Amino acid sequence: MDAIVVKGGAPLRGNVRISGAKNAALPILCATLLSDGASLLRNVPMLRDIDTTAALLRFLGRGVHVNAPEVTVTAGSDVRPEAPYELVKQMRASVLVLGPLLARFGRAKVSLPGGCAIGARPIDQHLKGLEAMGAKIRLDRGYVIAEGPAGGRLKGVEIVFDLPTVTGTENLMMAAALAKGTTTLVNSAREPEVEELGRILNKMGCDVTGAGTDVIQIVGRDPGSLEPFDHAIIPDRIEAGTYMAAAAVTGGDVTIEGAEMHDLEALVVKMRQAGIEVTAEGEKIRVRRTGDLRGVNVTTAPHPGFPTDMQAQFLVMMSLVRGESVITETIFENRFMHVPELSRMGANVALRGKTAVVEGVDKLYGASVMATDLRASASLVIAGLVAEGETEVRRVYHLDRGYERIEEKLSKLGATISRVKGAES
Ligand code: EPZ
Repeated sequence: MDAIVVKGGAPLRGNVRISGAKNAALPILCATLLSDGASLLRNVPMLRDIDTTAALLRFLGRGVHVNAPEVTVTAGSDVRPEAPYELVKQMRASVLVLGPLLARFGRAKVSLPGGCAIGARPIDQHLKGLEAMGAKIRLDRGYVIAEGPAGGRLKGVEIVFDLPTVTGTENLMMAAALAKGTTTLVNSAREPEVEELGRILNKMGCDVTGAGTDVIQIVGRDPGSLEPFDHAIIPDRIEAGTYMAAAAVTGGDVTIEGAEMHDLEALVVKMRQAGIEVTAEGEKIRVRRTGDLRGVNVTTAPHPGFPTDMQAQFLVMMSLVRGESVITETIFENRFMHVPELSRMGANVALRGKTAVVEGVDKLYGASVMATDLRASASLVIAGLVAEGETEVRRVYHLDRGYERIEEKLSKLGATISRVKGAES
């Protein structure tokens, strides 16, 4: 397994271009199952999760041609509506093929994704919604077996989510795209990636309104009537936020190109409260540290609240700020696994259930640390950028799932960072 070695101390300076959004590209790749023909996705980040999704689509019978940063998906002669455990266990978001397969082909067999490091990650809301649309769902030896209504199509209904779920909303939007009648999703997730999927479905010939708000209406179209699409993926707001945090922690001055300030409002408000200068310059966000930082309390929430995917990165920032900061994680039940690793670097953080109480220290010290999940691994790299000495982050396959060319991008900003192939894990 590879490791990343970071030498701390250099303030990051310069410009970095953000790649396409992983969490937009994944549902959009699955949406190609809803039509035949060749769909072209542009500005696709070259990440492990994209490779996994391409492998899954090929397994299902689609042709997938990757010509970075473009991906073309073409309909094959037949489809095998089955997503095997071997692929789904690598990436939970594989569950996003369930809705389109069921809507388009009337049946689907998809491995239950199982939990992951950050939580149990159930999909009960996905399944409840599909059953409300007339699907018959049963669980069999770790697989979801879904069948459409006897010989018919899914039907448009009103579905009220018990809680906002990003992929749950996306799965049901895609299922509704080919249902008979109109589907209304209430208490939907409002993330920009959900809004982007709404744009895609409309490009394909659907009639989706309200994507990006908590009530989404989808007028179903006849199977076989949707068109392939050509679309450039929106930028990755979490990658952008990660580089913003890295610039702030290292006391640097970085311009993030291709980031939408609007999609990061909750993060920007908290960064400014901490004393970081964040300015929008057209399609760019400039982040500068001009003085001492202040401790800030943060509670994660569904969009447009503070993103859970930025919690680990913000906590690193607070670990070096004089005074106490309280970080509360409300979305996932086990998303503080970066804390024990940061403590080994000298951070002073007390975990109390959903809350981390961070007491700022003067310095972090380089150490060998273990990545456990995507955003935790990013926070360890950020800690390494500011720690005294050298930090080795192991099991960086977690990092490769969501950050394109991170060593190259950070090196260009002045970091001393390299990858060690095949390091001990
Ligand atoms: C998406 O995961 C993202 N992944 C995650 O990003 C992100 O952290 C998460 O949304 C929250 O913003 C993708 O978009 C591919 P949820 P998702 O369903 O859809 C509970 C990253 O780092 N829940 O919105 O799986 C669930 O347990 C990844 O890029 C149910 O109870 O998250 C959680 O507590 C990590 N039942 C909460 O809802 C369900 O049926 C929100 O989960 C579904 C979810």
